[in-house]
Amino acid sequence: MSDVTHITVIGAGTMGSGISLTAAMAGIKVCQVDVSQEQLDRAAAYHQKTLGRNVAKERMTQDEADAALGRIGYATETCMASESQFAIEAATENEDLKKKIFSQMVQTYSDTCILATNTSSISITSIADSVGDAADRVIGMHFFNPVPVMKLVEVIKCPATSQDTLDRTMTLSEAMGKTPIAANDHPGFVSNRVLMPMINEAFHAWNDGVAEPEAIDGIMKLGCAFPMGPLRLADLIGLDVCRDIMLVLHNGLGHPDKYQPCEKLVELVEAGRLGNKTGWGVYDYREAAATA
Ligand code: 3HC
Repeated sequence: MSDVTHITVIGAGTMGSGISLTAAMAGIKVCQVDVSQEQLDRAAAYHQKTLGRNVAKERMTQDEADAALGRIGYATETCMASESQFAIEAATENEDLKKKIFSQMVQTYSDTCILATNTSSISITSIADSVGDAADRVIGMHFFNPVPVMKLVEVIKCPATSQDTLDRTMTLSEAMGKTPIAANDHPGFVSNRVLMPMINEAFHAWNDGVAEPEAIDGIMKLGCAFPMGPLRLADLIGLDVCRDIMLVLHNGLGHPDKYQPCEKLVELVEAGRLGNKTGWGVYDYREAAATA
C-alpha cells in the first residue's frame, strides 16, 4: 500500500501530462510544473477532455472527475515542494537539460523525496552521478504513451539506487494502476532496445521500396497482432524521439552499423515531420485534426 499523497511532475508535454492525470485519478495530489504557461494550458485542456470522456463513458461520475482535476495544481516554477514525496521529471530528452533539472530538484524537494526520471533511454547512472549524495534517491520511471491507457512502468535502477527507492517506486506505480517491471540501466533499457530497432527497420522497409507505410503497418498489425503498425506507432511516439533513441543505442551499444537511424527517419525529422505532435509524420493528420 502506497503512502504517497503528493507528487510533482516536471514537464507538461505528452508524457508529463499523462503521468499527472494518471496520478490524480489515483487520488494523489499533483503539482504539474512546466516553464511554459502555454504547455500547462495544453495539459489542463487534455486533463479536462480526458476526464470528460471518462464521465461520458460512465467510468466515473462528474464529482469524481472534478475531484481528480481539483487535485492538480499547475505552476511555472513549483508548488507543493515540501509535501512532494516523489518528483518525476518528464522534460525533453536532453541529457544536459535533465541534469540541470535534477540539480534543481535536489535543492527544491525534501531529502527523502524520490527523484525519478521518465527518460526513454538516457543513462540513469549518469543522472545519478550528477547529484552527489542524493544519488540513492534517483531512479527511472519509464511510462508509455498514452500514459492513462498503457499498463507498464519500466522501473530502471542504477548501481546507486537504494532498495528503499526501488521499493517505493514499485509501490507508487501500482498505486497509479500500473504494472511495474524492473530492469537494469543499459542503453534503451529493455523496451526501447527491442522496440526501436523494429521501428527503424520498418523505415528501412519503406525506404527500400518493400511496401508503402499502410501496407507495412497493415502487415505488422494483422500478422503480429500489434494494436498499431510500427510506422503509425513512430508517429505517436514522435519521430525525433525515435531518432534520438536510435542514436543512444548506436552510441551506447558499440555496433557501428546495427543501430544507425534509417536515413528515411532522419529525413522526415529534418523536414519537421515529427508525427502526431506536428500533425504530420509518416502520415498526414492535418485534415483530420481540422475537422475534429
Ligand atoms: N489519453 C487518454 N486516453 C487515450 C489516449 C490518450 N492520449 N489515446 C487513446 N486513449 C483511449 C481512448 O480514449 C479510448 O478510450 P475509450 O475506451 O474510452 O474509447 C482508448 O484509449 C482506445 O483508443 P481509440 O479507440 O482512440 O483507439 P485504439 O483502440 O486504436 O487505441 C491506442 C489507441 C491505445 C493508442 C492503441 O492503438 C495502442 O495501444 N497502441 C500502441 C501504443 C503503444 O505501443 N505505446 C507504447 C509506445 S512506446 C513508448 O511510449 C515508450 C517511449 O519511450 C518511446
